[in-house]
Amino acid sequence: MSIAALDSANLNAGQKVAVKYFTVAMVLFLAQCLFGMLAGLQYLQPDFLYNVLDFNVNRMVHINAMVVWMLFGFIGSVYWLVEDESGTELVGAKLANLNFWILTLAVTVVVLVYLFVQTGPGTKETIWFINEGREYIEAPRWADFGIVVCVLIFFYNVAATFMKGKWSGISGVLVLDLVALAGLYLAGMFYTTNISMDQHWWWWVIHLWVEATWEVLVGCIMAWGLMKTLGARRKIVTTWLYIEVALMFGSGILGLGHHYFWIGTPEYWFTIGGFFSALEPIPLVAMVVHAVYDSGTHNFRNSNHPALAWLIAHAFGNFFGAGVWGFMHTLPQINLYTHGTQWTASHGHLAFFGAYATIIIAMIYIAVQKWRGDVWMSGDLADKGWKWKWSLGLLNVGVIGMTVALLISGYEQSFVERALEGSTWGGYFSAQTQPWFVQGMHWRMLFGWVTTAGVVLLLWDLATIGKTETRRAIDPTATPATT
Ligand code: HEM
Ligand code: HEM
Ligand SMILES: [Fe+2]
Repeated sequence: MSIAALDSANLNAGQKVAVKYFTVAMVLFLAQCLFGMLAGLQYLQPDFLYNVLDFNVNRMVHINAMVVWMLFGFIGSVYWLVEDESGTELVGAKLANLNFWILTLAVTVVVLVYLFVQTGPGTKETIWFINEGREYIEAPRWADFGIVVCVLIFFYNVAATFMKGKWSGISGVLVLDLVALAGLYLAGMFYTTNISMDQHWWWWVIHLWVEATWEVLVGCIMAWGLMKTLGARRKIVTTWLYIEVALMFGSGILGLGHHYFWIGTPEYWFTIGGFFSALEPIPLVAMVVHAVYDSGTHNFRNSNHPALAWLIAHAFGNFFGAGVWGFMHTLPQINLYTHGTQWTASHGHLAFFGAYATIIIAMIYIAVQKWRGDVWMSGDLADKGWKWKWSLGLLNVGVIGMTVALLISGYEQSFVERALEGSTWGGYFSAQTQPWFVQGMHWRMLFGWVTTAGVVLLLWDLATIGKTETRRAIDPTATPATT
């Protein structure tokens, strides 16, 4: 028998909970892609599944599955590192387990309601039980309260564990960030009939999550991940983390203004939003330099090749998807033409994949390695590592392909619908039928298949990598760093 069977005896209590979260996250990742494919097909063939699974439902499941799998991935990542980082045992392992099952059950119910009960008039009751109607966080209100309770339990578990054990720079930033992340969710729970007010608060969740609290969270995970896979020195990663956090909050908080250009908020947001969001790429550059610098100084002699490859993909994906693709349309003079076109979808895909999907996948590779008893995961794997390399390639080529296709369609839309036809209703339809737009939609679909193939291969690899290995992992801290 190989040493490398999946055995929970290899995991500490926090990690046992973490692998559950990771498993659900990966199932939802696949679901996200399947529903994205359905929505994409409906662009090409609008009557496909009409009245059976409508575009609005597929789109909603697509992006909600994404938000939820990423939250599961983050919660899993924090549970994964909490005992290691605090040097003590998780305070409430049983509670964490119960919490996982409740949250997973609630998500299942919400998804089933999304799929089967979405037609009929909207009333006060439907807000409570069917759909709250805010893009990305459409979950009905009962689920909102459930989520808040679950997140509080999670927070208690993490904070209390650090309090019992020891604090570090990373854990200090992490816990403060979790307070902000959980608190902001409350801003998405108000109900108001004023659409400007509604949007105003809703962006507090969406923008401030992805461009502030999630970015800081992945900064913490990255810092920890670089120490684990490369043996990077704590002093260096912590210093970088502080710099990034300061820059991220400095630009990201007021950068919120780039969503306040056209929703009926005061005009000063043009200046504030334009200026601060234009600065947002700076911390993202710092993050790339950080990752490349750390891996470079360690000559890529690392204990987990797939994890490091995905960490590097994260550094570049975050920089290009969020930084470059965000910057392209963030000035109000440009956003006037690009707002809400496929240009936005192009940025949305590259940013969410590049910044968040990548780093969660990296953490899951780290988890699988330990789950199999610290098995070898460097070069020259039993299957030559073809599965992880191909899934890395397919996923990145797939998402970049979709991004470029959407950008071309979005460029055409900005040009025809907005610039030439002055944002008229007729302009909207004429833009949708132009060959450049339609071809972009076909290319998106093609690369969607590539992406989906990448996910399937990834799941297969995660289930099998290292299974037949007999060697133990390299200890990255034992290899002397060159600087
Ligand atoms: C990882 C970080 C980021 C993620 C995940 C992300 C994701 C998204 C998504 C999904 C949307 C579409 C929202 C909607 O449905 O209306 C969006 C909009 C936008 N993002 Fe980002 N973004 C990130 C960072 C940035 C950065 C750093 C900038 C600027 C430098 C930026 C600029 C914008 C702008 C201007 C819009 C509005 C587009 C429009 O008017 O239609 N984003 N972002
Ligand atoms: C598997 C292939 C995929 C296909 C075919 C696909 C297709 C789609 C479609 C058709 C939409 C709706 C666009 C619209 O309303 O006009 C959408 C939205 C979105 N998808 Fe995907 N998607 C895929 C994978 C992904 C992945 C891997 C991610 C990120 C990890 C992602 C993130 C998003 C986001 C953030 C939005 C909302 C964008 C916005 O509001 O502008 N998708 N996708
Ligand atoms: Fe934003």
